[in-house]
Amino acid sequence: MNKSDYTSAELFTSPLEGQGEVSAEDEIRRLREQLNQHNYNYYVLNQPTISDYDFDQMMHRLEDLELFYPQYADPNSPTQRVGNDHNQQFRQVAHRYPMLSLANTYNEADVRDFYERVRSGLEGEDFEIVAEMKYDGLSISLTYVDGQLTQAVTRGDGEKGDDVTANVRTIRSIPLQLRPGSGYPHEFEIRGEILMPWASFNRLNAEREAREEPLFANPRNAASGTLKSQKSELVAQRGLDAYLYYLLGDEIPFDGGHYENLQMARSWGFKISEGMRKCHSVEEVLDFINYWDSERKNLPVATDGIVLKVNSLRQQRHLGFTAKSPRWAIAYKFQAERVATPLLQVTYQVGRTGAITPVANMQPVQLAGTTVRRASLHNADIIRQLDLHLGDTVYVEKGGEIIPKVVGVDTTKRTPDMPPVTFITTCPECGTPLIRIEGEAAHYCPNDTGCPPQIKGRIEHYISRRAMNIESLGPETVDEYYRLGLIHDVADLYQIRPDQISGVYGTKIKSAQKIVESIRASVHVPFERVVFAIGIRFVGETTARLLARHFRSMDSLASATLEQLTEVEGIGDVIAQSVVRYFHEPRNLEVIQRLREAGVQMQLDEQAMLQQGTALAGQSIVISGVFNHHSRDEYKLLIEQNGGKNVSSISAKTTFLLAGANMGPAKLEKAQKLGIRIVSEDEFLQMLNL
Ligand code: IVH
Repeated sequence: MNKSDYTSAELFTSPLEGQGEVSAEDEIRRLREQLNQHNYNYYVLNQPTISDYDFDQMMHRLEDLELFYPQYADPNSPTQRVGNDHNQQFRQVAHRYPMLSLANTYNEADVRDFYERVRSGLEGEDFEIVAEMKYDGLSISLTYVDGQLTQAVTRGDGEKGDDVTANVRTIRSIPLQLRPGSGYPHEFEIRGEILMPWASFNRLNAEREAREEPLFANPRNAASGTLKSQKSELVAQRGLDAYLYYLLGDEIPFDGGHYENLQMARSWGFKISEGMRKCHSVEEVLDFINYWDSERKNLPVATDGIVLKVNSLRQQRHLGFTAKSPRWAIAYKFQAERVATPLLQVTYQVGRTGAITPVANMQPVQLAGTTVRRASLHNADIIRQLDLHLGDTVYVEKGGEIIPKVVGVDTTKRTPDMPPVTFITTCPECGTPLIRIEGEAAHYCPNDTGCPPQIKGRIEHYISRRAMNIESLGPETVDEYYRLGLIHDVADLYQIRPDQISGVYGTKIKSAQKIVESIRASVHVPFERVVFAIGIRFVGETTARLLARHFRSMDSLASATLEQLTEVEGIGDVIAQSVVRYFHEPRNLEVIQRLREAGVQMQLDEQAMLQQGTALAGQSIVISGVFNHHSRDEYKLLIEQNGGKNVSSISAKTTFLLAGANMGPAKLEKAQKLGIRIVSEDEFLQMLNL
């Protein structure tokens, strides 16, 4: 069906159902209900009943209809799961019921104590304890009114938290609309944990590693960083999940139990853990704990313990709360896997930026399924806090973290001949005295022009795929060319002659010529990637693109002031200072000058940008609404690059209206009245073969 077939008609024939005339409103409602059900099947039950392709088709159809009938827009529509790229500020919201935490216990005796406290608090009455997983993410409170998600608030200080509704809407396992007819109360709150599954976490860190961005230490930090992101579009891409474990509200059945409430909530559409058991004795509770202590390793998300709750809500009320936590619940925390092993040596690594990382080298030991030999000690402060001595028996843990950590020292095993570990004062690679930048934990080697790992690291970064993409070179060749004295900085790459490298690593003269050609070919790499490749601290790929597009040439970037830099959206103080510092360094300016002489792109290629295509030549285009794949500015640029003209208001001369989501109804009406063609984002990208 051609989209223009239903631009002006309220009634149209549904091609999917062949069911005759249905109103757009009914069709939108039907599609939303079906998509909600499929989301539930997929993300909550893990049992999809249609193919991804069919699901996407339905989603596109709903997107199209919502675009043409903005009067039926709904923030809880399944189409809203993709988020947007608006910069949002989080509003602080007071919790209707404070969000308390739980008292922690760490051993069997504590669990038995809790059980006895409950027994005596209930004066001998029978009781049930619900044992459930303690999920290791961040807590969230969701409010539903008439089956619709109305608000999502973080724990904050327990009294008030951040309104993160827009971000939470993108989490597929959180229902935006509860299942119709499932008997949910008119209004209630449900609390739970937002998590980043291991699979998403590993993928995210792999991507970050490829981009040389700092890694997240564990899924909890990654989930928390993601949920606080200003752009809901980013949240949508990170694959977060959520388990709910606590129902609150004036209308929930109070005579029942917590367990029964959660089963009910599952039928409303929420993801409720399957790992839950009603226990009738402390032995049953301990069984559950022991079982999950090992079995949790097979779960898709991180857990750090078991939560025990008195089941009956009446008994919960009877037991009440202390100032900080309920008397009717407690958290049993699993021991992070920990082993003791002797510390043999502390070595120091020098990174591309000169940062020094101390590394504990230990007698190899088995821990959580892998052999551990080395663990990061992070910085001098950590070494001091641990009061580390060489030869000490150290405790190594692998908690939620992927990299093992030295968490303590068994001082009873220390003998007087074990010297304290003192942080090095000079660079292990080049001997330069180290410095410490005020406010930063790390020590640095300031000899960035003479310290081998820094020099080689910078060149490796320059040639990497996402930077200049010089595929014929790799870390080994860089190391070798450096050793031979052929390269000291990235500009030297362009001076390499085939005869200098033929013979190295058995390179034949033909291959040597190819290597030199591929280095020279990199002068065509666009300016944006050059800004990334030169390795300014804190300037990743995205930041480089922002800077390149804003300043347009290396010269104007180099002369930008702190104020001019921070004016660019997305550039904060830390990045701005780093850029200024970089261009203050005469040595960097000299390298850039030599890169310029070699022909490397030092400005945006306006000509190429303006003449990328002629697909839109002579067309007047109006943009309206918000988009999923690119920002509005990027679409404006694309229009110009393809010969089109951006115009701000609709007239009879307008060729078409590029319509995103949430577009103003007035514009749409005007376009429809004038018979102007309306083009969706996907359609537009197709026009340009993108
Ligand atoms: S119940 C009043 N159940 O652990 C009781 N909490 O220190 C409210 N958590 O802040 C919490 N899994 O973020 C409860 N199954 C579970 C949980 C759980 C994880 C977190 C929650 C809370 C913290 C308690």
